[in-house]
Amino acid sequence: MSAPILLTSLTPGDHEDVARLLHRSLVQWYESRLRQGAKFGDSHAPFLLFPEVYEALDPGECIAARDARTQALLGVCFSHERETHVALGIVATAPEAGGRGVARRMMEEALERARRPGKPVRLVSSLLNLDSFSLYTRLGFVPGAIFQDMLLTVPEGGMTAPAPAGTQRVRAAKPDEAARIADFEQSLQGIRREKDFAFFLRNEVGSWRLLVSEREDGSLNGFLGMSTHPSFSMIGPGVAADEETAAALLWQALDGLRGQSLVFLLPCAAAGLVRTAYAWGARNVELHVAQSTAPAATARGIVFPTFMPESA
Ligand SMILES: CC(C)(COP(=O)(O)OP(=O)(O)OC[C@H]1O[C@@H](n2cnc3c(N)ncnc32)[C@H](O)[C@@H]1OP(=O)(O)O)[C@@H](O)C(=O)NCCC(=O)NCCS
Repeated sequence: MSAPILLTSLTPGDHEDVARLLHRSLVQWYESRLRQGAKFGDSHAPFLLFPEVYEALDPGECIAARDARTQALLGVCFSHERETHVALGIVATAPEAGGRGVARRMMEEALERARRPGKPVRLVSSLLNLDSFSLYTRLGFVPGAIFQDMLLTVPEGGMTAPAPAGTQRVRAAKPDEAARIADFEQSLQGIRREKDFAFFLRNEVGSWRLLVSEREDGSLNGFLGMSTHPSFSMIGPGVAADEETAAALLWQALDGLRGQSLVFLLPCAAAGLVRTAYAWGARNVELHVAQSTAPAATARGIVFPTFMPESA
């Protein structure tokens, strides 16, 4: 019989084990179900960035599952409490401990932590991974918007497609703009996470860029963050008031990451924006869905979710 599961937090000494667990679980799951294990590479080293960033952002909040007898790490679930909600980052179970209820135990703990301050829990889950999709929906999460994960390689010389309207209104965010960006997101999406934007702007752990777009009257109509770290380059998180602003932000983000292959998630419902991304050469590589224990009925605007720090 397997030993009981113990829930603990992480210490810096665990980072190597966490990176190995994340890499092994993703490779094993995607290889055994979809023959796509190779997309996670053959080294766990890039996955060190996840515990490093998450523990710098929210020290002690990660839920780690261990074998009560051996203390071996069986699973991790990264949890981030914000003003309006709790966001969950990557959830993973060691392949040899799969199907034992490890993920369920970690999720129940995350849900309990969110229940105390009365906040909904939000995450982004793969639509190709029915194990994780089911894990969340069985626990009461409700799927919302669907996103296309798109991959685009930006030529060394920059975007060949001409700059769309509105790119001249896009600029790098200033160091003191975290609250303004958080207010803008809250006005459209009903969620607030100033801590994430302040973290990007401090730029001390990981490597981040944050763009904003302003209307002629100086008010914000969009922002777009991105991780430019060699271990994890991805565009998002972001929100734009409309598709035109979203395209301008995305074009500027891509043009600033020359010679790189970037993944970004676009809402399937933003049909014009998706067509624009196809015209730029983007290819679909996966599908994700936003899940929440209390979906915001009034959310407006175009959302770019990301996997670190995860939220949609
Ligand atoms: C997804 C993952 C975290 C699940 O971990 P796990 O520890 O094996 O999951 P659990 O044993 O806790 O089981 C999860 C629940 O989903 C249920 N489930 C799984 N597939 C299901 C399906 N097709 N239909 C209905 N329920 C399903 C299980 O029955 C279980 O529910 P129960 O506890 O009520 O019986 C694990 O497979 C993994 O690490 N995958 C690779 C990493 C990954 O993709 N993470 C998710 C994205 S970030």
